[in-house]
Amino acid sequence: MELFLISLLILLFFFLSLTLFILFHNHKSLFSYPNTPPGAIGLPILGESVEFLSSGWKGHPEKFIFDRLNKYKSDVFKTSIVGVPAAIFCGPICNKFLFSNENKLVTPWWPDSVNKIFPSTTQTSTKEEAKKLKKLLPQFLKPEALQRYIGIMDELAERHFNSFWKNREEVLVFPLAKSFTFSIACRLFMSVEDEIHVERLSGPFEHIAAGIISMPIDLPGTPFNRAIKASKFIRKEVVAIVRQRKQDLAEGKALATQDILSHMLLTCDENGVYMNESDITDKILGLLIGGHDTASVACTFIVKFLAELPHIYDAVYTEQMEIARAKAEGETLKWEDIKKMKYSWNVACEVLRIASPLQGAFREALSDFVFNGFFIPKGWKLYWSANSTHKNPEYFPEPYKFDPGRFEGNGPLPYTFVPFGGGPRMCPGKEYAKLEILVFMHNLVKRFKWTKLLENENIIVNPMPIPQKGLPVRLFPHQPLSL
Ligand code: HEM
Repeated sequence: MELFLISLLILLFFFLSLTLFILFHNHKSLFSYPNTPPGAIGLPILGESVEFLSSGWKGHPEKFIFDRLNKYKSDVFKTSIVGVPAAIFCGPICNKFLFSNENKLVTPWWPDSVNKIFPSTTQTSTKEEAKKLKKLLPQFLKPEALQRYIGIMDELAERHFNSFWKNREEVLVFPLAKSFTFSIACRLFMSVEDEIHVERLSGPFEHIAAGIISMPIDLPGTPFNRAIKASKFIRKEVVAIVRQRKQDLAEGKALATQDILSHMLLTCDENGVYMNESDITDKILGLLIGGHDTASVACTFIVKFLAELPHIYDAVYTEQMEIARAKAEGETLKWEDIKKMKYSWNVACEVLRIASPLQGAFREALSDFVFNGFFIPKGWKLYWSANSTHKNPEYFPEPYKFDPGRFEGNGPLPYTFVPFGGGPRMCPGKEYAKLEILVFMHNLVKRFKWTKLLENENIIVNPMPIPQKGLPVRLFPHQPLSL
């Protein structure tokens, strides 16, 4: 019996050693190319993921980048994140290179876990069709198309502030900002206004966000499994909305201009081909997901910085009140008003620089290429990082100082301010986000001044920056006369 146990242990030890050897060997062989960028490959499977993620959990995602830039003295360094070899591209020259080589040398890449949670157009359309559809998206979100929605955004903001902020002494900002941006998205994308319906859709999004940043283990009860289920649930709901709308349009019960969904159903490409139901569902889901937390993070940090910097608050208040005072009773904001909000937008841009909602994005090398004298093998993942320029004193002197003046005149140097990315994959929701952020600022400052309830609330970046406790604030309403 003893002999049997010893043999079993030896066998187990042998298999473990063999597995580790294969893992290390495979891991090393993934990097065994001559003249790749300097850097470390970390452990098999994990690579340097823990260091990459933990610098964000501690609130300083830029630390991972700047530690390595200093160590390797190169704008490109290699690492291994989520088990794959990657090169991190830093600075404006690298940003320009990646943004302008889209679909030539590089293509977007998401970890498998994300693809599992959001199975996309590639399942229903060929790659070429998916590319064509992508081209249509900016058409629905360009400023001219969005102008007609400003009044609706303002009305929704009025309703939101009356329901959740008015007559409260204290509020928790982050959940309210999320509810604000989500209800606008539901109304403008697909005319869903009923609060219970909005709530039914917004709940599962929390599971999706938690699943994306969890271990990709698809077993009942895991956050990853809940995220997959939540994504399926939302897709089903959106499919039902799309079908109903098709019917309503055919029966003359819905308007062609009432929202982005109608616009998509009635728009064809240059060959006269209309998007099918599944493609439209993908697009609407993409917009809901892309626009869900990003703009609410921006709104939350605007509230935080305006509380901390009263002189900036005063300047925003002056600009917004000039617009508010020129309005007749009940008149909503218009495109001309938005154009006057220059200082407020500079403040929002400074927020997007210091607390960028997205830290960067991955690409995949479509073929072998050489950049800055370094060999990048086909299949390697490449990452552009907003912080490598946003927090770099070379491009933004005193990078941690809040200074909206940086955006006056010509503003930052090209490819240094990149909260929305750049090139063909630049965020298609940029102008939409600008409008909703400015409408939020207008409605907030004309009603309140506020102070933070927690002096030193931690910021966690996971994967977006958020105040750890949701940013509780005390509200001080303005006298109605000052409106
Ligand atoms: C302050 C708010 C926002 C920020 C900072 C932001 C930032 C970004 C960034 C950095 C990307 C990735 C670009 C890349 O891959 O290089 C992106 C993609 C995207 N964003 Fe936004 N975004 C914001 C708001 C929105 C909104 C409101 C919408 C929807 C209306 C939206 C829809 C999308 C979509 C659909 C994509 C994917 C585009 C593609 O795959 O080509 N975003 N966004």
